[in-house]
Amino acid sequence: MIDEILPAAVMSAESFGDEPDAWLFPEERAALGEVGEARRREYTTVRHCARRALGGLGLPPAPLVAGERGAPRWPEGVVGSMTHCAGYRAAATAHRSDVRTLGIDAEPHAPLPDGVLEYIALPEEASDVARLTRHTPEVHWDRLLFCAKEAVYKAWFPATHSWLGFDGAVISPAPDGTLHARVLTPAPPQQVPAPREFTGRWLARDGLVLACVVSPTVPPALD
Ligand SMILES: CC(C)(COP(=O)(O)OP(=O)(O)OC[C@H]1O[C@@H](n2cnc3c(N)ncnc32)[C@H](O)[C@@H]1OP(=O)(O)O)[C@@H](O)C(=O)NCCC(=O)NCCS
Repeated sequence: MIDEILPAAVMSAESFGDEPDAWLFPEERAALGEVGEARRREYTTVRHCARRALGGLGLPPAPLVAGERGAPRWPEGVVGSMTHCAGYRAAATAHRSDVRTLGIDAEPHAPLPDGVLEYIALPEEASDVARLTRHTPEVHWDRLLFCAKEAVYKAWFPATHSWLGFDGAVISPAPDGTLHARVLTPAPPQQVPAPREFTGRWLARDGLVLACVVSPTVPPALD
């Protein structure tokens, strides 16, 4: 399902349940530590998905432990993102030469709890949600907005190593399944300028809403 919204250069794998043959590298087991069964299962299954996605890039299985602020450390030359929610796990990977950074997120396709939209939405996003809800009421646009924001953060952080709050980017989803994100927060100074925009796609089906965003690789400057 997630492959339907990802660009061709991005390899992905997903699972609608936990996989009995999924396994962890010793360093992943150590990094996970003592956790409940539900967390152990989602962590293990999403890494199983990630290794399948790496295989799609022609790469061997590799340990995927959390680095700075929980962002997974991908093999050299690879970018990627992972997500899990009730009944769904997915991972997406690409060669850094094709994609600078990417983020994916999955959420149950249900309205956000009371008060959450007001917390996460900028005024223009809240009015978009109201307008889109009148236009296409079968989509929970509030949940989609949240999902897209999480995907943007997962793409932003590895590219900048900096926090991005819910008011840090304006997300504009469209009924045709596309979305656009414009970052408002000033980016920290860095050698390759931080992405200011992300393009993406979304999909709501079978009780889930999925979002992905990508930023293309910046071509090297010609001297
Ligand atoms: C980190 C965060 C995005 C995770 O999203 P979530 O919907 O709660 O959880 P998901 O299951 O979809 O994703 C969890 C996975 O995200 C990845 N992740 C965690 N921190 C990350 C980071 N800083 N950068 C990139 N990926 C990260 C991990 O792979 C994690 O899975 P793992 O712990 O098994 O490795 C969320 O908890 C958060 O902190 N959000 C606040 C920031 C934000 O959304 N800003 C909006 C910007 S417009």
